[in-house]
Amino acid sequence: MGGQYRIAVIPGDGIGPEVVKAALGVLEQIGVTYGHQFVTKTLLAGGCAIDTTGNPLPPETVAECRKSDAVLLGAVGGDQWDHLPGDQRPEQALLGLRGQLGLYANLRPALLYPELKEACPLKPEIIGDGLDLLVVRELTGGIYFGTRGRRHTESTGWEAFDTEVYSEAEVERIARMAFTIARQRRRKVTSVDKANILESSRLWRAVVSRVAADYPEVELNHLYVDNAAMQLVKDPRQFDVIVTSNMFGDILSDEASMVTGSIGMLPSASLGEGNFGLYEPVHGSAPDLAGQDRANPLATILSVAMMLRYSLALPREAAAIEQAVEQVLAEGYRTGDLMSPGKTLVGTEEMGKLVRSHI
Ligand code: IPM
Ligand code: MG
Repeated sequence: MGGQYRIAVIPGDGIGPEVVKAALGVLEQIGVTYGHQFVTKTLLAGGCAIDTTGNPLPPETVAECRKSDAVLLGAVGGDQWDHLPGDQRPEQALLGLRGQLGLYANLRPALLYPELKEACPLKPEIIGDGLDLLVVRELTGGIYFGTRGRRHTESTGWEAFDTEVYSEAEVERIARMAFTIARQRRRKVTSVDKANILESSRLWRAVVSRVAADYPEVELNHLYVDNAAMQLVKDPRQFDVIVTSNMFGDILSDEASMVTGSIGMLPSASLGEGNFGLYEPVHGSAPDLAGQDRANPLATILSVAMMLRYSLALPREAAAIEQAVEQVLAEGYRTGDLMSPGKTLVGTEEMGKLVRSHI
């Protein structure tokens, strides 16, 4: 007997609505094949919410998300909202959702699909038989949520400040998440900080080291963030799970995704306590591609797979989506971002249908 699930859907801006539509088609097929019922509710957030309600994150959106089992999000943002003050920008919707829904752990896998090896910008001897690492980014603390502001003094004129703050409890819970996941992978955690300079990083390092004692089967090492950035291109295969702060994770997860060469392929999960989570592609709203049926929907489709696995406890259905994606790639179908000679170019909608047809 199948289950019934409530999914909050936030298409957002730019290519968001197109890739979400393709992914919902795949989810619908999962429902048909496996006998589940997915009840979706479409909600506003980001630039489109600013245009219709004046608020990037209407309270109704947060309330509906809370009533759901999981949230699927496309992307937010675009040039037309770039002039707005910081607290009214579309990106504020993401910070608001993360903060208000308590989604403190952001999982960003960077996986190089064997079929897409030619898209990887690194030399074959560096990638070897493939890449498979996971960035676990702290998502509701640090400099993103610390006090910020401007002040004026006679002697300095205007100055601006942002604050990096981490409590022991915040570091501990993200560290536990990383160790727990590493246990099911290759059992290695690399904690990334700037402990040679930042006091918050020294606390981070101490807490991660202490938590590590509870996971003796997992190997832990520490890297400074500048070194980690270098190691990611020099020898990415040394990494299994990288755990790091909000801002370092923002930067390193972009780098890790580019190392695979296919940011259009990478999903993400943002988790809190319990099973609830928000799932979205790692890529942004790509306004230059919007409305042209050219965007790659696979990152969003794979985000649906993560949603089935982490929030709905449907690992078999998640695997069905992942296998369908691999089959479609193996058959040679590519969206423009992944195109190479001899492959078949397809649009967003067609790519969604192809994945669907393999479920
Ligand atoms: C991300 C994005 C966001 C972030 C922006 C859009 C607020 O870059 O999810 O990585 O910085 O967290
Ligand atoms: Mg980012």
